[in-house]
Amino acid sequence: MGGVHHELSPQQQIEALKEQLAHAQKLTALGELVGTTTHEFNNILMTIINYAKLGMRHRDNPTREKAFEKILAASNRAARITNSVLGMARNRGADREPTDLARLVDDTLLLLEREMNKYRIRVEKQLAAVPEAMVNGNQIQQVLLNLLINARQSMPSGGRLLIKLGHNAEENVVELVVRDYGTGIPADQLPHIFESFYTTKKGPDASGKGGTGLGLSMCRDIIEAHQGRIRVDSTVGRGTAFTLKLPVAVKPAAAGPSVVAPVATPLGIPGQTPVGP
Ligand SMILES: Nc1ncnc2c1ncn2[C@@H]1O[C@H](COP(=O)(O)OP(=O)(O)OP(=O)(O)O)[C@@H](O)[C@H]1O
Ligand SMILES: [Mg+2]
Repeated sequence: MGGVHHELSPQQQIEALKEQLAHAQKLTALGELVGTTTHEFNNILMTIINYAKLGMRHRDNPTREKAFEKILAASNRAARITNSVLGMARNRGADREPTDLARLVDDTLLLLEREMNKYRIRVEKQLAAVPEAMVNGNQIQQVLLNLLINARQSMPSGGRLLIKLGHNAEENVVELVVRDYGTGIPADQLPHIFESFYTTKKGPDASGKGGTGLGLSMCRDIIEAHQGRIRVDSTVGRGTAFTLKLPVAVKPAAAGPSVVAPVATPLGIPGQTPVGP
């Protein structure tokens, strides 16, 4: 019982701990989602109930039409939230598949919506239409979560956070940039930030996040396993940008129909619904 641990080298122990951390972070993300979901569902239900009442009170067609439209939009949003919870719970493997990163960004922001509001972070998205990337969605979501939480923590009194998605055709990669306008990273710290256990944080903040120093090292491991790249640009007092480069999912040669047909969204809901305030 437990004797195995004595034979592990420190490096192996770190690997084992990292694996446990990744698992714990996945659970944290799910917990976050449950919190957000419950809150959002309540809001959505209120909308549905109120418009149903409106439609029953007013029998004229224009009012009823408007009520139905509102009810449909609210229900679609609820379905999208459910889908992202189910998707997250389902996708536990290490498989990589052609993935719509814009959708992943939206799903991840859904998780952090409450937190970003609480810390007065204004999230801006510039998501160009890009080809699908060949990634494990769950792992890239972990990377995004850490980058977004780091960004949030670099702006303790709020600020602007920019998420950019683009296609670099020359390198055949999808580029995802997370830019904050926070404290920035001093030049002497910059070479260390990807090291395991390197942290400048004094421990978890009021939201219970931060301080193990494993976030970026995990990000780098995941991105490298994807044959991708992660780079950082930072200026003290100005902010920091992390850029991910991930391989484009290559479609099979033009012969015959493509195998990587987009996965149909249940109920036919497009993934474009903007994340509301
Ligand atoms: N966006 C950022 N702005 C300023 N500093 C940053 C940013 N991202 C990372 N850092 C610096 O790099 C360090 C390492 O980040 P990393 O995510 O690995 O660990 P952490 O956030 O301290 O802890 P956790 O393991 O909970 O993520 C941070 O402690 C911080 O000093
Ligand atoms: Mg971190």
